[in-house]
Amino acid sequence: MSNQTRVRKAVFPVAGLGTRFLPATKASPKEMLPVVDKPLIQYAVEEAYEAGIRDMVFVTGRSKRAIEDHFDTAYELENELKQAGKQAMLELVRSISPADMNCLFVRQPRSLGLGHAVLCAEPLVGNEPFAVILADDLMVGENDGPGVMAQMTAAFQKQGRSLLAVQEVPLEQTRRYGIVKGEPAGGALMRIDEIVEKPAPEKAPSRMGVAGRYVLTPAIFDEIRNQPKGVGGEIQLTDAIERLMTHEAVYAFQYQGKRYDCGSKEGFLQATVELALQHPEVGGSFRDYLKNLSI
Ligand code: UTP
Repeated sequence: MSNQTRVRKAVFPVAGLGTRFLPATKASPKEMLPVVDKPLIQYAVEEAYEAGIRDMVFVTGRSKRAIEDHFDTAYELENELKQAGKQAMLELVRSISPADMNCLFVRQPRSLGLGHAVLCAEPLVGNEPFAVILADDLMVGENDGPGVMAQMTAAFQKQGRSLLAVQEVPLEQTRRYGIVKGEPAGGALMRIDEIVEKPAPEKAPSRMGVAGRYVLTPAIFDEIRNQPKGVGGEIQLTDAIERLMTHEAVYAFQYQGKRYDCGSKEGFLQATVELALQHPEVGGSFRDYLKNLSI
């Protein structure tokens, strides 16, 4: 096992089909849907970058080319902006991929599940701890405090064990989450002794639901490799984590911040309204607009 506790790499599984967002996701990636003016995947990459991570590993699939293009240099656009003297726009476009950030891409040939997508990243991650970020969970840190991944990498640096971001969820929604039960382990940590994927409310061991942020030790790869298909015929990350728990302690981490489930229409709309209200350019006028709506 590697003893490294600095998290240098993040895996972004973006190969899902996004069926809950059809028809928008027929030919475009769900992760490119913009909340106000930024695509979901850019919020996720910025969160990783803020946490000190520089190697961004995207697990992509069909119809996901726009993600690669988004993080690539756009020569024509940059030239046009330069010629037109639009310096601020030019800097905005260039800031999407800072010079010290590396973007790496690997394809998941079929949507066989989140666990399988993570395994596809193994050749690019190697034998070191890594973050997993699901871009459709948009996370906002509390009151300008650190982002959720920065909170998690700081916690990982102290104890070196796998961490899953968790939050309390309404009982009637347990079917949407991996649900964990465990013992308090100091501060925001809880040592997990049970994890169940998408249980019915009456079977849920608690109301602590896993959100789309993980820091995992590389031991997870062997667990995924050796596991049979789970719920929905998919290779589930949750099942691999359950097996990992028989060899290594795994912790739940109660983050400070807010999560928007942008894989669902309702969560996406909530994120759009709330982030628009905070937006420096449109926040004020949008607030006035909402106040004047007769609803
Ligand atoms: P979801 O099940 O929420 O995403 O998977 P989905 O499949 O894209 O969306 P729906 O449910 O059909 O609307 C959680 C995350 O795992 C990724 C997805 O891209 C998403 O970020 N994923 C899922 C993969 O990369 N590969 C898979 O085979 C499955």
